[in-house]
Amino acid sequence: MIVALIAAQSENRVIGKGLDIPWKVKGEQALFKKITTGGTLIMGRKTYDSIGRPLPGRTTIVVSRNPELVLDGCEVCTSLDAAIKRAFQIGAPIFIAGGGELYRQGLDLADEIHLTTIHTNVDGDIFFPEVPDAFVAVSEEKYQSNIDYTYRLFRKRGEENAI
Ligand SMILES: NC(=O)c1ccc[n+]([C@@H]2O[C@H](COP(=O)([O-])OP(=O)(O)OC[C@H]3O[C@@H](n4cnc5c(N)ncnc54)[C@H](OP(=O)(O)O)[C@@H]3O)[C@@H](O)[C@H]2O)c1
Repeated sequence: MIVALIAAQSENRVIGKGLDIPWKVKGEQALFKKITTGGTLIMGRKTYDSIGRPLPGRTTIVVSRNPELVLDGCEVCTSLDAAIKRAFQIGAPIFIAGGGELYRQGLDLADEIHLTTIHTNVDGDIFFPEVPDAFVAVSEEKYQSNIDYTYRLFRKRGEENAI
C-alpha cells in the first residue's frame, strides 16, 4: 500500500501562516477532494484545529502527543508511526495531509507526493520541505484560476512505473 503526502505550496514554498492557508484559489480544494476521497487522511493536531471538523468521505486520523485528546468523528494517534499502522489496517489509500511538522516527518516514509504549486509568492511561517532528489515528477497538470496553479505527482525514483 502506498503512503502519499498531499500539499499545496506557494512558489516560495509557504503552506501556512499561523493556522491559516494564506490564499484562496478556486478549484484547488476540489482537486484535493478528488484525490483524497475514499482514503485516509493523517494530519497534525494543528492542521485539524485549522479545519475544525473531519472532512466528509474520508477517514481522518489526527496525530497528537496528547493521549487524552478525543475528537468527534476522528481517530487520534499519539505518533505518526501509530497513525500509519492504523491507516494500513483501514486499508484505504493513505494521505499525510499536513501540516509542516507532519510533512517533515512523513517525507522519509512516503512513496508519492501530490504537490500543487500556487503561482504566487506569499508571506507565511510554515513551509513545505524541499522535495528530495529521491523523488521524480511523473505527471504534471497546469490549471488557470484566479491564481494559476500546477499539480505534480512525484514518485520515488526507481519506482516511477512500479505502482
Ligand atoms: N497548504 C497546505 O497544503 C496545507 C496542508 C495542511 C496544513 N497546512 C497549514 O500548516 C499549518 C500547520 O502546520 P504545523 O507544522 O504548524 O502543525 P501540524 O503539523 O499540523 O501539527 C503539529 C502537531 O501535530 C502533533 N504532532 C506532530 N508530530 C507528532 C508526532 N510525531 N507524534 C505525535 N504528535 C505529533 C502535535 O500535536 P500536539 O501539540 O497536540 O501534541 C503538534 O503540535 C497551518 O497553517 C495549516 O493551515 C497547509
